[in-house]
Amino acid sequence: MNNYKKYILALCLIIISLCAFVMKNIKKPKNNTLNIEQRVDSLLALMNIDEKIGQLIQYTGSENITGPPSSNYDKEKKEKLRKGEIGSLLNVSSRKTLCEVQKQVLENSRLKIPMIFAYDVIHGYKTIFPIPLGESASWDLELIKKTARIAAKESSADGLHWTFAPMVDVSRDARWGRGMEGAGEDPYLVTKISIARVKGFQGDNLAKDNTIAACAKHFAGYGFAEAGRDYNTVNIGNNLLHNQILPPFKALANIGVATFMNAFNEIDGIPATGHKELQRKLLKEKWNWNGMIVSDWASIAEMVNHGYAKNKKHAAEIAINAGSDMDMEGHAYNNNLKTLLNENKISINVINDAVKRVLRLKFKLGLFDNPYKYCNEQRENKDIYTSENLNVAREAGKKSIVLLKNENNILPLSKKIKNIAVIGPLANDKDSPLGNWRALAKYNSAVSLLEGVKAKVSKKTNVFYQKGIDLIIQDKRFQNTKSLYLYEINENTSDKSKINDAVEIAKKADIVLLAVGEHGYQSGESRSKTNLGFTGLQNELINEIYKVNKNIVLVLSNGRPMDLSSISDRIPAILVTWQLGSESGNAIADVIFGDYNPSAKLPVSFPRNVGQQPLYYNQKNTGRPYNMNMKEVTNSSYRDVKNTALYPFGYGLSYTTFEYKNLKLNKHSINKNEEIIATIDVTNTGKRSGEEIIQMYIRDIVGSLTRPVIELKGFKKEFFKAGETKTIKFIIGKKQLQYYTANKIWEVEPGEFKVMIGKSSIDTINASFNVK
Ligand code: NOJ
Repeated sequence: MNNYKKYILALCLIIISLCAFVMKNIKKPKNNTLNIEQRVDSLLALMNIDEKIGQLIQYTGSENITGPPSSNYDKEKKEKLRKGEIGSLLNVSSRKTLCEVQKQVLENSRLKIPMIFAYDVIHGYKTIFPIPLGESASWDLELIKKTARIAAKESSADGLHWTFAPMVDVSRDARWGRGMEGAGEDPYLVTKISIARVKGFQGDNLAKDNTIAACAKHFAGYGFAEAGRDYNTVNIGNNLLHNQILPPFKALANIGVATFMNAFNEIDGIPATGHKELQRKLLKEKWNWNGMIVSDWASIAEMVNHGYAKNKKHAAEIAINAGSDMDMEGHAYNNNLKTLLNENKISINVINDAVKRVLRLKFKLGLFDNPYKYCNEQRENKDIYTSENLNVAREAGKKSIVLLKNENNILPLSKKIKNIAVIGPLANDKDSPLGNWRALAKYNSAVSLLEGVKAKVSKKTNVFYQKGIDLIIQDKRFQNTKSLYLYEINENTSDKSKINDAVEIAKKADIVLLAVGEHGYQSGESRSKTNLGFTGLQNELINEIYKVNKNIVLVLSNGRPMDLSSISDRIPAILVTWQLGSESGNAIADVIFGDYNPSAKLPVSFPRNVGQQPLYYNQKNTGRPYNMNMKEVTNSSYRDVKNTALYPFGYGLSYTTFEYKNLKLNKHSINKNEEIIATIDVTNTGKRSGEEIIQMYIRDIVGSLTRPVIELKGFKKEFFKAGETKTIKFIIGKKQLQYYTANKIWEVEPGEFKVMIGKSSIDTINASFNVK
């Protein structure tokens, strides 16, 4: 063989092996994915138009109303259900009932398409974990995934398939009551936490019998309601939308969150439910997400109130064309889609696309293979409200508590303390810690602070208790309903007669634990407020106690950042305890008596007063940047209060102390595709071991759009023994430096950047570098 032939032969061999290698490694669609698509298509081909529209309809059960009640349509519901003309029910619980409904559908409908059951499993099912905002303060992604996993196990053991969580709305306004359901004001933190939650709910395989479909909500902008008033108008520009609001949604679409929910609000004149650019163009087409979008409760029909649709029929036309697949309790699709189709106002392709998304979800959940897979009686005792689950609730509780102030190391207390007074309207409340979205929690089932303290202290300790005042008056009629809509709260309490009893026990005590703040039902949906301070008679109670005993630990319950300016100077210790769930009192006692060293940091800014709202740490510089010297009047500041937060984002104390030094960058100039390694030495300089959340922030000094002065781009939660030093490393590259620029794409723009690493958004060590 001459050289030329040898050369050709060698070349052929190389090409053949290359082809073999590529064929072997090419990503083939997984078998089950392929199967699902084929099965969806074959089923769709068998369906008539009524069956198709039926799949797009979700009705509420009657036990729990999480929206304004609709007129009675029980009879219609039953008939449609048997015909297979309802795709999903929400607000029905209990394995027995759900499995009976499933049976009705399967035994009576023509195509036997299983029903999908949804519920607001927001922070636990029967075992209740801290409210999402509180749990976010732990910055502990493994823990957060674990609590969502348990919520999924419990709810699936009770027959449910789908939760309307997580809420991934970034929100900056403490007046908005709904902030309690999210992960705070920062898009990076919200993203990380929301990913953990979805992974917890959905597990590694939706078809398992202990996983449930998650729902990224509310798409989009709901957290930016004007003046913090729920459901209010949202006026935001593209920069805010793409850089602050959308990133968590995009991240969840990328990891395959099963469903999205749209939102009640409008954005710059277009209701989110009818927003084609957002739903169809961006989420479904550009992000290439193949999941299903459910409307919010009646949000399709509410486009009539918005003044965007002439009537329900018109609303249905707008919504389906915009990409809203399922109509939650809006009664717009059931009566109108068929007519709209006959009138050629909508196309069968649009309906088919929506139906396919619903069917795909049901296939993914494995419901066609075994519609009764969530009906296993055995799991009820094995998986629901177990001591194991309650232990995790306690762990989550203590890791969510933020220590704001600890003058003279008044905390932790000795368990042998002689006399302790537990005072306040929330001190022995066993209901409030369950929060607002409490799913199937039993009324009054949480451990109260008083119970937690009693279980912790020595036998010789005297524990005195007085309520002092009432915070709210609950309407007894509704104590056993799960309906947060019917749960009327009267905040105008006026009975001062027991304040004196509280003062008397405070006089006898070495320390007072003062449990004040907000009841669990004072935040949540439709719970917007204009007073962020202590409402009712709370200030009076605090002042009277303070007169006789200054050794106060203020145990704050709250579902939002509160204005603590009336007490922050004088009360020596303050703990933010949110609403901590089933094990609340035990978790708080773990921290108060030093069995757990607090490590949580605020995921939201606590204001100096309500007038600062919306207040958030990642602000812009403005043309006249804020100057701490308030006498200088020509800058962007208030005349009566500092611009800054009273307790800033990322802030939280420990019983030990941490020192940061030696921030080093391995390079000071990179090109757009390179990375910098930043290292910093963190030392536990105190005498106790403890965890620290080390935060890495970036500032992009000049941009084609103005940039925030500081933005969280990384964090690590590390355990340190007393005296231990660790070198903490962060990688800074494209992911940390890019943003949605004036070119309307995500890119890194060249120029100067600042990196800031430290213990909170206002306590960092800084360095600079350049991107060429
Ligand atoms: C309205 C809320 O906005 C939404 O988040 C919730 O999931 C639905 N109601 C169903 O309860």
